[in-house]
Amino acid sequence: MIFLKFLLSFLCFLLVGSCAYATIVSHDGRAITIDGHRRVLLSGSIHYPRSTPEMWPDLIKKGREGGLDAIETYVFWNAHEPTRRQYDFSGNLDLIRFLKTIQDQGLYGVLRIGPYVCAEWNYGGFPVWLHNMPGMEFRTTNTAFMNEMQNFTTMIVDMVKKEKLFASQGGSIILAQIENEYGNVIGSYGEAGKAYIQWCANMAQSLDVGVPWIMCQQDDAPQPMLNTCNGWYCDNFEPNNPNTPKMWTENWTGWFKNWGSKDPHRTTEDVAFAVARFFQRGGTFQNYYMYHGGTNFDRTAGGPYITTTYDYDAPLDEFGNLNQPKYGHLKQLHDVLHSMEKTLTHGNISTTDFGNFASATVYTTEEGSSCFFGNVNETSDATINFNGTSYVVPAWSVSILPDCKTETYNTAKINTQTSVMVKKPNEAEDEPVTLKWSWRPENVDNVLLKGKGESTMSQLFDQKIVSNDQSDYLWYMTTVNLKEQDPVLSKNMSLRINSTAHVLHAFVNGEHIGNYRADSGKFHYVFEQDAKFNPGANVISLLSITVGLPNYGAFFETVPAGITGPVFIIGRNGDETVVKDLSAHKWNYKTGLSGFDNQLFSSESPSTWSGESAPLGNEPVVVDLLGLGKGTAWINGNNIGRYWPAFLSSVDEGDNTLVLFEEIGGNPSLVNFRTVTVGSVCANVYEKNVLELSCNGKPISAIKFASFGNPGGNCGSFEKGTCEANKDAMDILTDECVGKEMCFIDVSTEKFGAPECGDAIRRLAVEAIC
Ligand code: GAL
Repeated sequence: MIFLKFLLSFLCFLLVGSCAYATIVSHDGRAITIDGHRRVLLSGSIHYPRSTPEMWPDLIKKGREGGLDAIETYVFWNAHEPTRRQYDFSGNLDLIRFLKTIQDQGLYGVLRIGPYVCAEWNYGGFPVWLHNMPGMEFRTTNTAFMNEMQNFTTMIVDMVKKEKLFASQGGSIILAQIENEYGNVIGSYGEAGKAYIQWCANMAQSLDVGVPWIMCQQDDAPQPMLNTCNGWYCDNFEPNNPNTPKMWTENWTGWFKNWGSKDPHRTTEDVAFAVARFFQRGGTFQNYYMYHGGTNFDRTAGGPYITTTYDYDAPLDEFGNLNQPKYGHLKQLHDVLHSMEKTLTHGNISTTDFGNFASATVYTTEEGSSCFFGNVNETSDATINFNGTSYVVPAWSVSILPDCKTETYNTAKINTQTSVMVKKPNEAEDEPVTLKWSWRPENVDNVLLKGKGESTMSQLFDQKIVSNDQSDYLWYMTTVNLKEQDPVLSKNMSLRINSTAHVLHAFVNGEHIGNYRADSGKFHYVFEQDAKFNPGANVISLLSITVGLPNYGAFFETVPAGITGPVFIIGRNGDETVVKDLSAHKWNYKTGLSGFDNQLFSSESPSTWSGESAPLGNEPVVVDLLGLGKGTAWINGNNIGRYWPAFLSSVDEGDNTLVLFEEIGGNPSLVNFRTVTVGSVCANVYEKNVLELSCNGKPISAIKFASFGNPGGNCGSFEKGTCEANKDAMDILTDECVGKEMCFIDVSTEKFGAPECGDAIRRLAVEAIC
């Protein structure tokens, strides 16, 4: 085979100068096959717009070093086609450059075109202009929708083909995806839903990409689409066709974050358990969603209320640092699974049930066998007697024995270091302790006093329709002329607004009468505030703010945004209440704020606008917005996202300008730049393993704790146990690690001595300072 390929490429070279040969990607019921070889494929999601092109080679390289075979990404329609038929593939939207970076690193690509993507991305990746086309309905047999979806999908496929990036053309993309989890909502679309998914399949197939198409969460995926699973665990999943391999497109390594909620966390042990269990039960393709989550720059966060950070507790953190022990523990798992590729993809599978949720699965080929011992009991350990030996399998864990004799991996036993990240103040000598700030107010005279907008309509409209989602901000303004005798004029007057604005600021005659923030999930509300109206002209100015449009659910595009009304002026004269409905009034609309229109955020903004120098070095930089309220932030003119009240970014060396738009009020004196780096590393490693300690490219400066025996406690609070080896572990570690960027410690009795710890398996606990 290799010789044939060599011959082909040689002939190719002679005839055309150079050319790549096609890789045949196919599948059978067992696995994806690449050039006829069944493969165990480990893949990880990295979304190109959530990092910068400068970060891509490093992120993908770390993926490869972490044992991945493939990188998966969605394609983000609304980012690429912000205005109908006007495309943008610049900067971090350079899809082709990203795909080529994957190829350059020798990895495969999985291209999830969607173009509905969900992904906690604004409007699930659909452009808002699409919604505003006449007669439009999303994700169903609507001709206008299907035309646009086909247009975009074809364009992406053509771009990728032109660069010869599909494996069928000699490139690295082995799989493509159409739609996304439509099976979760298909029921709401009735017969049209079934016809639509059939149309999606036909349309995708007609594009002739030469690699298999997948559909995730689609039990009734029409052939030849491969249906795949998404979820926390997919070991129970069975594809709808015996000729489809068992594939898992989204193993959620953590979760996304909403404003005001805690940082999500999924334990390393549980992610590893889910993966090992999937392979125990016949899986052969698994993708981490996310492997690197990254950042929702600008207004890309969906929602409502998805944060700017999309860290996801993924194996690589938001900045691209290794999230340890998750990264390392999974890397070890990948190495073990790869070592068993042949047996996993060709072996006969037989499973013995030991009761109490314990089972042993043996994969057998003529050459040998590999075993998985699974214990799905959440609380009690299991003892499995296998071929005359007994093995303890901790609760909720899977042990892997590549030769069915020696356990080389257990999902619950972490032998990888934990890295504790710290945010350090900038160390540059010329950095002032606090930043100097200059500011300019938003010019609101025209909107507050004159109610002047850009368009006028005698109706309250959905914010998406008026603004095409060009901004988070939309002013709704009306002027109400009240005659002296108008019965509504009274002492106790108020303004009542039925609203779906995520945040609302209300003004009457230039006076701020109040604001409101909708709680998550409670986006329909009535806002009522006392207000003073006078005989004559009264200007009502309402600023409606969206914080990310919905991205999930059947018909999510129809969820209203903004001030949907009705809006009333209420007057109270004694017992009598007089209500004046303003809904059909003449409303003036203005999209965006004047500071945005005038590009006050650009680096070339007036000289009165000065930033301060940023930290030196190349560690990721965090801008801590302590003391601020809610708004938008720019670094050197690039919109790095919403803050509410904190945000993150990376900054170039040299002069950098930080511009903030603050909409509630706050005190910037506490804002500061800090770098993110590894502060200390810890490990608690079982005997007979090799511990790798690393400070991410910096030397290890000291060993704070080390003990071999049965140490207790956790990282930062380790304590010696009741048994300890006679050799001084602190000395050994200090000798072998301090001053080095990385050291490998053989965790064994030969090295440390043999403490008598009874039944307990001996462990080495270490805490090192970076
Ligand atoms: C899935 C979806 C992904 C993402 C994920 C949650 O249902 O396919 O795009 O939204 O949930 O992070």
